[in-house]
Amino acid sequence: MEKSLIEFRNVSFRYGENQPWVLENVSFQIASDEWVAIIGHNGSGKSTIAKLMNGLLFAQEGEILVDGLPVNENTIWEVRKKVGMVFQNPDNQFVGTTVRDDVAFGLENRGVQREEMLKRMEESLNAVGMKEYALHEPHRLSGGQKQRVAIASVMAISPDVIILDEATAMLDPKGRQEIMKTVQSVKKQKNLALVTITHDLNEVVQAERVIVMNQGKLLFEASPRDVFKRKAELREIGLDTPFTAKMAEELNKRGVVLTGEPINHEELLEELWTLHSNR
Ligand SMILES: Nc1ncnc2c1ncn2[C@@H]1O[C@H](COP(=O)(O)OP(=O)(O)OP(=O)(O)O)[C@@H](O)[C@H]1O
Ligand SMILES: [Mg+2]
Repeated sequence: MEKSLIEFRNVSFRYGENQPWVLENVSFQIASDEWVAIIGHNGSGKSTIAKLMNGLLFAQEGEILVDGLPVNENTIWEVRKKVGMVFQNPDNQFVGTTVRDDVAFGLENRGVQREEMLKRMEESLNAVGMKEYALHEPHRLSGGQKQRVAIASVMAISPDVIILDEATAMLDPKGRQEIMKTVQSVKKQKNLALVTITHDLNEVVQAERVIVMNQGKLLFEASPRDVFKRKAELREIGLDTPFTAKMAEELNKRGVVLTGEPINHEELLEELWTLHSNR
């Protein structure tokens, strides 16, 4: 594992003194080159974690480090240069009248010089395939295009980690795939860490590691394969397993015994093929 970029140390959080704790004693680390998915039922604390990561909220107990920097009022601007965030609804994120202005906004805010700004705007819009839309009005774009622009705006800041909080939830399956492809290529190009918060199991199985949240507590963390092996536990906390995992389970029940734990279509096909050719 590369050095840790984000570290939660025994973090607890509540939205006010008389409110219940929504995060309790949460600890984990995310490496600087890693893709981590966070899953959990509605209200389990995922978005709160995201907001704590870039100083939109501050922990009442414990400590959060970003690139070794403790996140607090004095460090938020440093932290926000390192942590880029894309939310579910892009409309709430647009501030500019054109796509270009919108990407420029975050850069101006961070005092980036004009020359450098133009370069980064061009580069990031290009990376998400939205260069031709630079002069378009953001609110007239499709949902998928809006999310691309939101990603470009975040990319332009050149963060060390991008957090996607249900950023593909409003898109159709094809739109989701395209956004995830874009994000993955950005991740690769820039060698970033990626944190995806999602209910989409196809996205979860692509991550390198999964953090499972339940009622504000970190239940366990493991590779997607190992997470989805624990089907009963997941069911108990109201989480689904990928179609292929369920399919394999049903096949097993009916006497088609697969040796592995396929978590995507390719693996399932491979398993079935091996079984067939060994008959
Ligand atoms: N601004 C707020 N004020 C008070 N309580 C809040 C606020 N935002 C969230 N909560 C509560 O904190 C808990 C955790 O919410 P959070 O948004 O982190 O969950 P989540 O896992 O992201 O859920 P979802 O899957 O629905 O997005 C929930 O019980 C929620 O009702
Ligand atoms: Mg949420």
